[in-house]
Order: sequence, then structure tokens, then C-alpha cells
Amino acid sequence: MSVTIKSEHEIELMREAGRILSIVHDEMGKIIRPGISTMDINRKGEEVIRSFGCIPSFLNYQGYPASICVSVNDEVVHGIPDKRHILKEGDIVSLDAGVIYKGYQSDAARTHAVGKISEEDQRLIDITKQSFFEGIKYARAGNHLFDISKTIQDFVEDNGYSVVRDLVGHGIGRKLHEEPQVPNFKPIGRGMKLRVGMTLAIEPMVNAGAYDVWMLEDDWTVVTKDSTKSAHYENTVLITDGEPELLSYNKDLL
Ligand code: MF3
Ligand code: CO
Repeated sequence: MSVTIKSEHEIELMREAGRILSIVHDEMGKIIRPGISTMDINRKGEEVIRSFGCIPSFLNYQGYPASICVSVNDEVVHGIPDKRHILKEGDIVSLDAGVIYKGYQSDAARTHAVGKISEEDQRLIDITKQSFFEGIKYARAGNHLFDISKTIQDFVEDNGYSVVRDLVGHGIGRKLHEEPQVPNFKPIGRGMKLRVGMTLAIEPMVNAGAYDVWMLEDDWTVVTKDSTKSAHYENTVLITDGEPELLSYNKDLL
């Protein structure tokens, strides 16, 4: 399948999927504190998604066994919630979630502090989020896809961190993963030209140490090879003639 351009009606549905997802993240964020389990976050996320009549898109996606991905410290993405995994003061936790509203998808991730964290770890979280906002300055019709990738990479590396290479962002719409792939590092060339009505999930994954990752035995959890911490930030973004529209972001939430 090639890149899909969304109609005004489809965009309306994706806006709603994104608006709901921003609330889901806000509600999950509110319960984070030392002592809760990663499964408690999954339960809250699923409850809020279903309260809007939506479906958690990750549940059973290629066999994924939960509704939310909860990745702690050196876990980069796709951490599986577990009632035995209790968060403790000083952890950082990345939450990744997706909802389906009337057949249309949104996908977003946030990284939170658990209680009081080190300045160093807070900086990792902040730089990761900021790299997304640097990247989307180039997310507009007429620019090229890898202008976004390059900007994210340069910003992250200038700040002393590395971007994960083995996982990328993606187009999104009726399906969670559509074309094109959206790397957070610059491949050769400038990539495809961006067009009005494209919808992209842009999602920098940033490691405090080297960019190398590997997969745990559960075949889902991706961790840093050098065991340094990792942060993730993602929104579903609509390409327009001007400023991009952030479908899963509400500046008054997070
Ligand atoms: N948010 C992830 C992504 O952007 C999807 C999670 S994979 C799943 O690709 F299996 F957990 F759904
Ligand atoms: Co995604």
C-alpha cells in the first residue's frame, strides 16, 4: 500500500481519535507514582479508551498482549505491562498508546518521571520531547520527509544523546502502520515530498548512551544494549500548507 491522503471527513475522525488519546495520556500520567505497577497504568489506559467507546489499537496487534506499552528506564519501547513490575522513585517510564475511533487511528507516546528523578534523566526526557518539536518545524507540504528526520537527529546528537535506528515512525490512518516510514535519523537523500492531508506518527526514541538496542526474550521489549536510559515522545501529525496540526496533542495537558 502507498501513502494515503486523507479527506476532510477522515481528518475529522482522526482529530477525534487524537483528542481522545491526549486525554488518555493525561489520565495515565496522573496515576504515576512510586508503588504502582506497570499493569495499573495499562488498566487505567484501557479504561479511559473504552470510556470513549474506542478500541485500544495495540491490543492483539501482531499478538501484542496488552493495551498500552509501558517501558521503564533502559526499556526503549514495547515494554509489556506486568503486575509484578512496581515503579520506584527515580524511574522514568515511557507510555505508548493508540486508539481507534470509528475505524481511524491515533498513536502517541509520553515519558514521565516517577517521583523525584535526577536532573540528568529529566534532561533526557526534555530533549526527547523538544526533538519532536524541532523536527515538526519541517513537517509541512512541499518539504521532504527526511528534513524532519535530519532535524531530529541533529538536535538529539548536538545535545549528547543518540537516536534509535532500528525503529521508526510511520504513516497512520485506517491502519496503525502505513507508509511512509519516518526515521529519526537521516538516510541517504531527502525522502518523499510531503503533501497536504498526509498523517504521520513522528516518534523520536532517544538513548542517553549509544543507539544500539536489542530485544528481550519476550520478543517485544526493546532495551538499550548499554543499559542506559531511553525516552520516547510521539504524536500523530497532520501535514498542511502551513503549520502542522498535532492531532494527539493538547498544550494544556501534556
Ligand atoms: N506505538 C507503536 C508504534 O508506533 C506501536 C506499538 S506496537 C504494539 O509502532 F504492538 F504494541 F502495538
Ligand atoms: Co507509532
